[in-house]
Amino acid sequence: MGIGYRVIVRPALRVQDSEKAHGRALMMLRFLSANPLTRGMLSLLYRPRKKLTVKCFGQTYKHPFGNAAGLDKRAEALRGWEAIGLSFIEIGGVTEHEQEGNPKPRMFRASSSLSLVNRMGFNNPGSVKVASKLKHHFSRHGSPNIPLWANLGKSKITPLDEAPSDYAATMDRLWEYCDTFVINVSSPNTPNLRELQHDDALESVIQACQEVNSRHSKSSKTELKPLLIKIAPDVTDEQLTAIVHTARSAGCDGIIATNTTLERPETFPKGEEKVFTQTGGLSGAPLSNRSTEVIHQIYSMTNGEWPIVGVGGILSADDAWEKIGAGATLLQAYSGFVFEGAALSKSIVNGLDKKLSEHGFKNIEEAVGFSHRGND
Ligand SMILES: Cc1cc2nc3c(=O)[nH]c(=O)nc-3n(C[C@H](O)[C@H](O)[C@H](O)COP(=O)(O)O)c2cc1C
Repeated sequence: MGIGYRVIVRPALRVQDSEKAHGRALMMLRFLSANPLTRGMLSLLYRPRKKLTVKCFGQTYKHPFGNAAGLDKRAEALRGWEAIGLSFIEIGGVTEHEQEGNPKPRMFRASSSLSLVNRMGFNNPGSVKVASKLKHHFSRHGSPNIPLWANLGKSKITPLDEAPSDYAATMDRLWEYCDTFVINVSSPNTPNLRELQHDDALESVIQACQEVNSRHSKSSKTELKPLLIKIAPDVTDEQLTAIVHTARSAGCDGIIATNTTLERPETFPKGEEKVFTQTGGLSGAPLSNRSTEVIHQIYSMTNGEWPIVGVGGILSADDAWEKIGAGATLLQAYSGFVFEGAALSKSIVNGLDKKLSEHGFKNIEEAVGFSHRGND
C-alpha cells in the first residue's frame, strides 16, 4: 500500500459512509484518467512495470490481476482502471432492467478486520443504459487495450423461472462491447438468486447465454466469447461438485470463485459487531481462506483443466500467491482496493514476480496449482 494511502486516505475513510467514499474514489479515478497529463501520472505512480504474461480464455493478459465485479457497476472509469495498470476490467453487475438496489445504508466497513459487508442488491442503470454508455465511450476513446468483462446479474423484478431470458437480454446488449461474460448466480443480495446455482436452473441460464453468444458470433463471423460462472463460497462439497459438473458440461469456459459469504468470523475486534451483524455478503480478509479452499477443490475435481479466477480476500501478494497455488490462473479484488488503494495492483504484481523467482517458476502458468504438487 502507498504510504500516503495508509496515513491519509485510510483514516479519512473511517469517518465516511462506505458507499459515498466508494463513489468519491471512483469519481476521482474517472476525473484523473480523463486528462492525458493526470492519466500519465496515474500510470507513473500505480502501473506495475513487471510483465507476468498469462494466456487464459484465448486471450493474453499482461499479468493475472484485475478488478472484481461491483467496483465499477456502471462502467464509469474504464480508462482509470487501465491507467492504474490492471490487466483486465470487470464491469457490472448489470441486470436487464435498471434498478436502485436495496435501501441505504447498504455497505459497511470493518477496517480493523479489513472486511466489508454489503447488501447492495444489484443497483445499476440496466443493460440498455450500460450498452449505450459503452457505445459512446468506444466511439470517443476506442475500446480498452485490456480485456473488458461484463458481470451479468438477474433483475429483481424477473421471476426465477424467467431468469434465462433476463441474463440473455443483458448479454445480447453488451456482446459487441465486452470480451468475456460472467454469469453471476451467487450474489446473496437478490432474493433466491443462489437457487440458480443448481442443476436445471443453472443449465438453462447458461444455455440461454450460449445461444446469444453463438448468434452474435455467427453474424459477426468472430469467435464465441468466453462465458464464466461465478459461484458462492457457501456451498457444500456435493453442491460444488454439481455446479462444476453442470457448468462445465453446459459449455462454461471457466469459473470465478468466489462471491461474498453469508458466514461471519467466529471472533472479531470489539467495536465491529455493528458491521458483522449487518445482513449481506461479507468480503475481504475473513473470506480469504474459504475462497482459497473452494479454488483448491475445483482445481482438484477438474484436474486443473478448467480455468479458475480467484477472488476473495486478496489484499497482498501473499494472498494472491496462495490463490495461484490453489489453482487460480487469474485474480481479482474488490475489498483490497478499498483498504489498500490504487497501489494494490503494483504491490501484487511485483510481489508475484518475486514469488515466481523465489520458487523457481518460469511464469504464472507454470505456478498455477503448485500447492497440489507439494511444491510451495
Ligand atoms: C459493494 C460490493 C458490491 C459487489 N457487487 C458485485 C456484483 O455486482 N457482482 C458480483 O459478481 N460480485 C459483486 N461483489 C463481489 C465481489 O466481486 C467479490 O467477489 C467479493 O467482494 C470477494 O472479493 P474481495 O474479498 O476482494 O472483496 C461485490 C462486492 C462488494 C463488496
